Amino acid sequence: MGKRKTVKDIYKMKKQKNKITMLTAYDYQFAKIMDKAGIDVILVGDSLSMVFQGNTTTIPVTVEQMIYHTKIVVDSTEKAFIIADMPFGSYQVSVEKGVENAVNIMKETGCNAVKIEGGQRVIPLVEQLILAGIPVFGHLGLTPQSINKFGSYRLRARKEGEAYKLINDAVLLEKAGVSGIILEKIPSDLAKEVTEKIKVPTIGIGAGSECDGQVLVITDLLGIDEDVNFKFVRKYADLNTIISKSVTDYISDVKESKFPSEEESY
Ligand code: KIV
Repeated sequence: MGKRKTVKDIYKMKKQKNKITMLTAYDYQFAKIMDKAGIDVILVGDSLSMVFQGNTTTIPVTVEQMIYHTKIVVDSTEKAFIIADMPFGSYQVSVEKGVENAVNIMKETGCNAVKIEGGQRVIPLVEQLILAGIPVFGHLGLTPQSINKFGSYRLRARKEGEAYKLINDAVLLEKAGVSGIILEKIPSDLAKEVTEKIKVPTIGIGAGSECDGQVLVITDLLGIDEDVNFKFVRKYADLNTIISKSVTDYISDVKESKFPSEEESY
């Protein structure tokens, strides 16, 4: 059994300028592969709603579904630090409800931390979660759970006022005790400024190379969905083509009685 990473290890990585690697996972196979490959952090993101359930936003995914997938990821890994996303509706109603849901997520899954979206407005919740002994990661910039408020997934904090608010939110989150902050789809210069200003690690997605770490959605990195073509995604493989070809080859082999062969039979 390998030793699982802790918040302290992640924090130390920033200090030592050792870049933090994070990917999303939702299931046994991918979680096991990335843990063995040496990923530092796995995020069971509420992107689950879009990439796993096929919804158009992250809004529909429930606490029960996040618990189901997070437990699988925790049980499939030995070393990676595991963060569970708190889904939409699980912490917006009240601080009490947020703490109750976070306690439940941690109890049922064994994850190492939870992640919540937002700045100033979530500070009372962050403080209560820290008091309850639950490590928290923040999420600023493009916050997909607020899609209905903003109406688009465009770059965030381009204007001076928004950038100032984001820096202030990052400082408030750090003061409240977060263990790290995800910075999504903001200008690189702003991400650099935040990274230099706070002591806890920043993990970027579409936020340039100056963050303390990077995160990508696993299915984007593997090129599984041909419709995903974001500027900030580097596709390390074209699994869509490989999977499609494997399936069509299998179909024609079966139709033409070429599979199974004698060697593949008893
Ligand atoms: O849900 C998710 O996958 C995320 C990442 C994109 C950071 O929040």
